[in-house]
Amino acid sequence: MNAKIIGTGCQLPAYAADNHYLSTLVETSDEWITERTGIRMRHLAQKETTTSLSVDAAGKALASAGMQASDIDLLIVATITADTETPSTACRVQAEIGAVNAVAFDINAACSGFLYALHIADAFIKSGVYKNALLIGAETLSKLVDWTDRGTCVLFGDGAGAVVLTASKQGGVLSQSVGSNGSKWEVLSCAARPVRNPVCQSKEVPGYLRMDGQEVFKFAVKTVPLCIEDALEKAGLQPEEITHYLLHQANKRIIQTVAKRLKQPEERFPMNIDQCANTSAASLPILLAQMDTQGRLHPGDKLVLSGFGAGLTWGACVLEW
Ligand code: COA
Repeated sequence: MNAKIIGTGCQLPAYAADNHYLSTLVETSDEWITERTGIRMRHLAQKETTTSLSVDAAGKALASAGMQASDIDLLIVATITADTETPSTACRVQAEIGAVNAVAFDINAACSGFLYALHIADAFIKSGVYKNALLIGAETLSKLVDWTDRGTCVLFGDGAGAVVLTASKQGGVLSQSVGSNGSKWEVLSCAARPVRNPVCQSKEVPGYLRMDGQEVFKFAVKTVPLCIEDALEKAGLQPEEITHYLLHQANKRIIQTVAKRLKQPEERFPMNIDQCANTSAASLPILLAQMDTQGRLHPGDKLVLSGFGAGLTWGACVLEW
């Protein structure tokens, strides 16, 4: 049995900030941001939370799958921006949507989180442990961003995407290639709460996202083509047999460079980065849900999904729609 996506949904916060607005906060310009990243807008949470965005995306994914929340037996939320340290976002979503029969937990693999969740769900479904899974990638990254740091604040946005997976004899996930390199964790990080207890009063303040942009860029354009090639080989497919390559929406130039390295036309690499910016674990399921709603995905299409991010982490998945 393969894990097959049978429903998708996404939710973006109502408020969208364009590059001109950011140029009122930090020394930057629409021209700089658009040229270097491809980003024009990003959605920012006001009333929305990671949980509320997840619940809305999940509701749409369940409706498009024609399933009830009670049919779900595995619920995973990939996020680095939970609303509570504990319980997990997944448990809060479970309560709100009534997924009473699901085991629910979060995972943290940063921008590769959705790919990792797919990796876990596929293994559980293949082994017969669970049958129907709800996977959500959700972030309110705007709360981790230092809004005085022009090197990072222009890059990120908030949102959530969800998919419903079910066990299927045909199509679905064909292969995966997933990896991590913890020795490079400092390239992109965000410190957690400092230790403050009766025997230690750390002077550190809670952290914001810190990034060596050029290191991340080099890592992405080197590693993503390799893991996509590995996943294609495992699936027994050639690069030209892939209908769409959905890459984590971090930077338009990264996506263009990967397309060149795979010798594939850029038109096969759909993008929404201009409207959504980098929504970390939410970026792939948002893009997938938008393409699904637009009728751009057809039965039998072969898709590659690929993510990369803090950890460092990365992954690619080949699936048949
Ligand atoms: N507006 C205007 N200037 C900016 C700026 C901004 N928002 N951010 C940085 N700059 C400046 C820098 O201060 C630097 O100025 P200097 O030459 O006077 O020192 C100059 O632009 C060049 O900076 P640099 O970091 O070399 O730019 P870059 O071409 O590498 O682009 C990124 C920066 C962040 C867009 C690029 O490195 C990138 O996209 N990396 C990948 C990041 C990513 O995807 N992270 C998430 C992964 S999940």
